Amino acid sequence: MQTNPKLKGQSALVTGASSGIGKAVAIALANEGANVVVGCSSHPEHGQQVADEIKANGGTAMVYQADVSNEEEVLAMFKAMYKEFGTIDILVNNAGLQKDSSFVDMTLADWQKVIDINLTGQFLCAREAAREFIRRGIVSERSAAAGKIIFMSSVHEVIPWAGHANYASSKGGIMLLMKSIAQELAPQKIRVNSIAPGAIQTPINKEAWETPEALNKLLTLIPYKRIGQPEDIGKVAVWLASDESDYITGATIFADGGMTLFPGFAGNG
Ligand code: BGC
Repeated sequence: MQTNPKLKGQSALVTGASSGIGKAVAIALANEGANVVVGCSSHPEHGQQVADEIKANGGTAMVYQADVSNEEEVLAMFKAMYKEFGTIDILVNNAGLQKDSSFVDMTLADWQKVIDINLTGQFLCAREAAREFIRRGIVSERSAAAGKIIFMSSVHEVIPWAGHANYASSKGGIMLLMKSIAQELAPQKIRVNSIAPGAIQTPINKEAWETPEALNKLLTLIPYKRIGQPEDIGKVAVWLASDESDYITGATIFADGGMTLFPGFAGNG
């Protein structure tokens, strides 16, 4: 744990925290003193490993298994969190998945699953967190804000993505969900922002980095010429959750090595 933790005494829920970006975010928040709920949908044993790592670093964590697209399970998750930690100060709406296929072959089930988890799940968790932030209000010893919601979006909230229409639609939806509730909740001192990662080296995009050929092809899309690491996103999440970003709401922070800079136009056009 850091010597002057930025999130001391705050409680955070990170969904989809048993691997990848969510895991790094959970560990980064805990290193800054937050009590963390490691949310996971399957593989609670992986969630437990994340919680154990947090505890080994001197932090506080619990694991909770829930399907974020199921309202009852989401309500039960928040209840369990309040029982353990009393309240919530930070929500990182991270759970998400891909079910890729060409548009004409996309099944309704694959469309629906991605919208359910990536968009409806974020709605359900954000709504519960907002209800608690409004009920409790500001606790000035912990934070200048009554609460912080961070959506895990993607560069694909703005970059169209052939073969991934369901995923890009879910992320485009997150963009306006985030901005709409940021506008609605700002008077109650609730800050709502998104992180839009580019290509981060995690299991979700293994095919894009597992061979040198694939990685070289991917790097043509990244002006900064390195694949992102989950810790890159953990650092942004800490900043957005902390009072250092107290005047930031309704913003999307692109953490993408320049992927959204139309790299195909460097030297062309
Ligand atoms: C996707 C990854 C992809 C990255 C950049 C992310 O949102 O989940 O699979 O590599 O965007 O295209």
